[in-house]
This record gives sequence, C-alpha cells and structure tokens, in this order.
Amino acid sequence: MLVTLEGIDGAGKTTVLEALADAHPEAVVTREPTKSWYGEAVERSIADDDSDSLAELFLFIADHADHLDRVIRPALAADRLVLADRYVDSRLAYQGESLREELKRPMEYIRGVHEPFTRWPDATLYLDVDPETGAKRAGATNKMEHAEFLAGVRSNYERLVEAEPDRFVRIDATRPPEEVIATAERTLTRLL
Ligand code: TMP
Repeated sequence: MLVTLEGIDGAGKTTVLEALADAHPEAVVTREPTKSWYGEAVERSIADDDSDSLAELFLFIADHADHLDRVIRPALAADRLVLADRYVDSRLAYQGESLREELKRPMEYIRGVHEPFTRWPDATLYLDVDPETGAKRAGATNKMEHAEFLAGVRSNYERLVEAEPDRFVRIDATRPPEEVIATAERTLTRLL
C-alpha cells in the first residue's frame, strides 16, 4: 500500500512522517525530492530564484520516474507499506501554481504527463494549514515558502481533495503537533 503525505510548506509533514515511521518500522519511508542525483538537481533548481519553471517541472518528474523505478515499485512488489513525504500531488499543487501564467491548464497538463507511467497513491494524508502559518513555520528560505505563492498552492490542493474525496484524508494541521500526529496515526491504522 502506498500512502503519501502532502501539504504546503510548514504544514508539519516531516514531523508527522517521523512519528508514523516510528509506529510502523515495517514501512519503507521515502520522500520527493529524493536524495539521488536527480533529487540534487531538483534542489539546485529550487534554490535558484531564476530557474525556468517548466524545466523545474521536468526535473521533478525525472526524479519521480527514478524514484518509482528504484524505490516505489520494488517496495510495493514486495508487499511493503510505503510512506512518502510528497509525491505526484506536490507537482500538481506547486508546479500548477508556478506554471499558472505559462500554461493554459497547468494541473491538467502535469496530470497528463504523469498518467502514462506513474503509480497513484492508495491514500493521501493532506495536512491543511493556512498559507500565513505555513510561510511563518517554513521561514521563507526559498521562492516557494512565501504566503502568496503558498495560497495558490493550497487552493490547488483544495481542488485535488475535492476531486478525489475517497483518496484524500484532510487533517487540520493548525492544531498542536501531538494532536496532528495522533490523528494521522489513527487514520493510517484505519487505512491499513
Ligand atoms: P520539502 O519542503 O518537502 O522538502 O520539499 C521541498 C520543496 O519542493 C517544497 O517547497 C515543495 C517543493 N516541491 C515542488 O514544488 N514540487 C514537487 O513535486 C515536490 C516533490 C516538491
């Protein structure tokens, strides 16, 4: 089973994932961008304020293709539980926003590029936080971590949750971390 964690920067995904990983030592725990050289290329692009948004999308997708091949598919073939910190929905939400002016229907375009080769998640925990809280928690260290950009990303996530209410589980991430973790743990137990 493939369970992904999504949310804007500062939603607290990483803390929640650590707790879920502790509770499920049998799980394969992974993330996008990955630690491979594809992921390093992505990190370089994110850190560069002048990088081309379309080129950046394809770096993320290259990293995803490698991630699928090297980590996700083998783990699922071995019947493992896979927990992923960010996955395809991050592209739909973030690059859907960064390419808003460049492409006509960016989210549809990004979905179309992934569709032929990806493996969609079985369930997605969406940690929902307002953009101001997210930006403040994230500390605005890169171009994505600003409230205005994150507001667009959040509304893209809203569209995704609305379109697939059975796959997404929305969790209010403005609550104290221990409550968010407890809700995420209960949700994962129920899913399994
Ligand atoms: P992180 O904060 O979860 O480490 O993710 C790194 C940044 O990359 C974060 O600002 C979100 C962004 N991102 C995208 O824009 N598109 C993607 O597909 C992924 C996986 C991350």
